Amino acid sequence: MPTVYIEVFGCQMNIADSELVTEALARRGFEKCENRREADLVIVNTCSVREKAESRALAHIRELVAHKRKSGLPKAVWVIGCMAARKGEKLTEEIPGIDRVIGAPDIEFFENYADSYLSDFGHDEPHLQANAAGARKASVFVPIMRGCNNFCTYCIVPHVRGREHSVPSDHLLHQISQAVADGATEVTLLGQNVNSYHDGRVNFPALLRSVHQIEGLKRIRFTTSHPKDCTEDLIEALAELPKCAKHIHLPVQSGSSRVLALMNRHYTREHYLSLIHSMRKALPAIDITTDILVGFPGETQEDFEQTLSLVTGVRFTSAFMFAYSPRPGTRANDLDDNVPAETKKNRLERIIAAQTDITKEHFRSMVGRKADILIVDRKNGESGMWIGQDNGCKNALVSCSDCRSGMILNTTVLRSSGMTLLCERTAS
Ligand code: 5AD
Ligand code: SF4
Repeated sequence: MPTVYIEVFGCQMNIADSELVTEALARRGFEKCENRREADLVIVNTCSVREKAESRALAHIRELVAHKRKSGLPKAVWVIGCMAARKGEKLTEEIPGIDRVIGAPDIEFFENYADSYLSDFGHDEPHLQANAAGARKASVFVPIMRGCNNFCTYCIVPHVRGREHSVPSDHLLHQISQAVADGATEVTLLGQNVNSYHDGRVNFPALLRSVHQIEGLKRIRFTTSHPKDCTEDLIEALAELPKCAKHIHLPVQSGSSRVLALMNRHYTREHYLSLIHSMRKALPAIDITTDILVGFPGETQEDFEQTLSLVTGVRFTSAFMFAYSPRPGTRANDLDDNVPAETKKNRLERIIAAQTDITKEHFRSMVGRKADILIVDRKNGESGMWIGQDNGCKNALVSCSDCRSGMILNTTVLRSSGMTLLCERTAS
């Protein structure tokens, strides 16, 4: 049996895309290999969102290709995903030895092309194995829409993933019901901007309500939400539907309305703060997480201080924080990248320090409280320890002798270690 190893850089959408590819290959007789040094086919799923993500993937691909030349393994190297879309076939000139380049928008249709992709792999007589992929998973990622129409001026995603399109809701309901029948209890609905989901009939809050009716499904998560499309209707659905995790990832990017306009975000600081207020009014215990980008072209010290004050005022549960990285082809790339590297670094360190304190306080404030932990997996190397997440999607470790992936455990939080809750099963 040929073997495949898939290496993933980037976001949850890339993880979902990688699963789609692995499953299509499994149906064609490929076995998943745990060691990339032994695999016949190595696939690198790439990210383009920051320059660093690309340079890490490129270094990695160069190393794979050198190994292939020396030892004959892997027999083939495929580069897929966002960088594959951005650079296209130029990649094979940049790194001779790459066998195939498949851009992010084509992965959605991988199943249709898999046999032709595999023809140069000596696989000209494919035999589809209907159930080869049926690995049981407690938690599944389901892309509900792909692409993005927002063109935030710093962002490469709309350029590489193309325009927004939603998967029909009946297809999604079937897919999620099937995953639940196969043992899943949690679903994460994925999209660059899930709030603008619309299949012509059903919008995002309506989709949530339909998914909620699937019997056996215990928890629904979704990401990412755009503040400009976050409606009262969504907040109501979140508050009303018990299976919805009480968590929202709502990237703010900047606390300065001036910078938000330059970023083409279509909301102001005040609008963002009013959204947070409405959410906390409807759901006092909601965990709100965010993305922040510092050092955007023209960001002044005063703009940055506004971002810092928003962070300390809102008190996000956690945040992903980045320094601006110019991306060729985006509108911001034409602006003067005039915040010195040292200043970007300094602003990033200050915002990370402030947010880290707040995150630790959030986790500490959970000690002694009850938490419903959805068990996802065993913790490697520690018998009786399980990894899971609470209803606000905070990571947790639970000691438990008879756990199973997919169950929701009533626990009490004993301790917090930075960004993980340590929980004990509550006697029932
Ligand atoms: N530079 C730095 N960070 C970026 N992001 C998107 N584009 C860039 C860029 N050019 C960040 C944003 C986005 C997250 C996925 O990545 O914060 O929300
Ligand atoms: Fe990029 Fe903005 Fe689209 Fe998010 S909403 S993927 S940041 S363009």
